[in-house]
Amino acid sequence: MIEFDPTHRIWLLSTPASAYALRLDEDDTLCHAHWGRPLTLEQAAAVPRFRNPAESTFEHPREGEAELPVSGFGPSALQIRFPGGAREIEWRYDGHVVDGGHLTIHLHDRHYPLAAELHYRVREDSDVLERWTVLRHTGTDAPMELLRADSASWSVPRLPDYRLSQVTGAWSSEFRLRREPVPGGETVLTSRRGVSGHHANPWIMIDDGGAGEHHGEVWSTALAWSGSWRVTVHRSSAERLCWTGGFGHEGVTWWLGPGESLETPVFAGLYSAGGFGGTSRAWHAYITRHVLPAGSELRPVIYNSWEATGWAVTEEGQKRLAALAAEVGAELFVMDDGWFGARDSDGAGLGDWAPNPGKFPAGLDPLIAEVRRLGMRFGIWVEPEMVNPDSDLYRAHPDWVLHQPDRHRTLLRNQLVLDFGRPEVAAWAHGWLDRLVDGHEIDFLKWDMNRAFTEAGRPGSGDPGRVWIDHVRGVYDIMDRLRADHPRLRIETCAGGGGRVDLGVLRRTDEAWTSDNTDAADRIAIQHGYGQLYPARTMAAWVTDSPHFLTGRDLPLRFRFHVAMAGVLGIGGDLLSWSAAEREEAAEFVALYKEIRPVVQHGVQYRLGDPPLTGVQYVADERVVVLAWRLPTSFGVSPVPLRPRALDPDARYRDDDTGIVHHGAVLLAHGLPLDLPGTGYASALVRLTRLP
Ligand code: DGJ
Repeated sequence: MIEFDPTHRIWLLSTPASAYALRLDEDDTLCHAHWGRPLTLEQAAAVPRFRNPAESTFEHPREGEAELPVSGFGPSALQIRFPGGAREIEWRYDGHVVDGGHLTIHLHDRHYPLAAELHYRVREDSDVLERWTVLRHTGTDAPMELLRADSASWSVPRLPDYRLSQVTGAWSSEFRLRREPVPGGETVLTSRRGVSGHHANPWIMIDDGGAGEHHGEVWSTALAWSGSWRVTVHRSSAERLCWTGGFGHEGVTWWLGPGESLETPVFAGLYSAGGFGGTSRAWHAYITRHVLPAGSELRPVIYNSWEATGWAVTEEGQKRLAALAAEVGAELFVMDDGWFGARDSDGAGLGDWAPNPGKFPAGLDPLIAEVRRLGMRFGIWVEPEMVNPDSDLYRAHPDWVLHQPDRHRTLLRNQLVLDFGRPEVAAWAHGWLDRLVDGHEIDFLKWDMNRAFTEAGRPGSGDPGRVWIDHVRGVYDIMDRLRADHPRLRIETCAGGGGRVDLGVLRRTDEAWTSDNTDAADRIAIQHGYGQLYPARTMAAWVTDSPHFLTGRDLPLRFRFHVAMAGVLGIGGDLLSWSAAEREEAAEFVALYKEIRPVVQHGVQYRLGDPPLTGVQYVADERVVVLAWRLPTSFGVSPVPLRPRALDPDARYRDDDTGIVHHGAVLLAHGLPLDLPGTGYASALVRLTRLP
């Protein structure tokens, strides 16, 4: 709901359990007023203005107040160089429009031909507030240079302290959760890689240092953008905490010509009084209902050939794997890298998207027909944004890659980035992808992206900074068109594992390849970080071979399954090397997963416990599923029991496997009885049904 009080010139945006308010000052400056617990319009008007306790001539009179800072001594959300060199923006209020849950505030510079729209959207079933900004050059003369165009800036009330939660990492160690006090001054979280990144993910959470999994106030924001980004958190000397964020990193500028406009991505915010767990659940629900294109579907069990074959893909080899994949219960068979061009390693072939005739003498159809005969859907790996210099495509179009005049072209994984902002490149990519999906029975694309941008440029372009935005928009556009034209098509986002997972790409994909690290013990932490924002129904998780190729760790099949069953279960091991007994056991786990899948993928998630004994609980109607994992411990050490959440203390719950009936109150107070023998890696799956 959106209300406006014309006397106090204050807007109040209300969600089921939060409120956001902003007001217009005497001189038309938009000021932030409130973000937190619900307020009435009258109460919002009574929120005191922020007063800098150390006011002096050395401070800006508006320190920490602006809704979208354009001047002052903190980080600015908008920075523009007008023709003639002026840098300050002076807004005049031009009115507002409320359309259901969508508020648009119109501003115009007092002198220069620059208009802005500040957009806010709230929904009745979510506490997430979406914000974005549109800038428009309303003149006819010279262009203006955009030095920074953030989507939104956010402030929290004054708290006794401030703590920042984020995920950081690298290839095969992404989504590592960190919680640290916010230092004084500015903290920049960013990706300069052209992709949202393994190294940081474009979300943050702020609390006062005292919030926990199940209690406390948490303010969080997430950017819906899959390219370079920057979020600057500012803890001012007045102990005010604000942050501003959007696409692009420092030093990248864009030109706004007469009549042109620039729309930023959505930067969404959420206030929750339910601790980190409540925060995650609210994001999960929002993403499922309002971001994912097909959030109500159940994701199938995938078999993916990558770890089994690498690039050594052949029709016969894939058919052999497909037969075993079907036997263990896979529903979607995905052929990974290596099927096209001269792709026998990462050194050649990217860009030449025709099946390799030596590997597929009769094309893809015989394999696809066999996969379908076995009762599975068919998916295929693609990396459309990339090219190996050793490819026919590059030999024909060396100018199609991002590059700068007279500069070296840095190779990463022997490949370069195609410039998807160029219409001819985008048309080429859309063309072959469309023909691939149209010409064969392809249900699923694993869309990979295996290198960051370097020397990003487009020689001859008057606006070279645009490549950072145009590329991402080009990718989005192709995905959107493919989905619109092929309604059965589903897409997995992948960038060397979880290098491109964000609200922008999830709007046009169905699941994410979480990490190339499929070691189940490492995965517990990776999945823990992933799930802080993103729901289990997007988190692809394969069971692979043991010992693990990356870590050398040997883990029981049961443990590997129990970890992968916490997301979208897949199998990624070399089934040809698994014994008949292992495949039989795998088939039992896959069947079990299909039984719990509606609860895991569509239920409400609660994270339980602390190492060495942790777990995840999912609740859907009468059903409760808990996956519990115990890391190696010492003899005599007894981990704290896992206490489930959200049970009815007055109800009784039947264990679906043992038939034992438990009192809800006892489970809540004393935890789940788990059978975890020994001191090594051990795991359990508990299925409970609430009795009427
Ligand atoms: C990186 C992905 O994360 C892997 O799963 C696999 O698809 C390889 N690329 C293929 O090159």
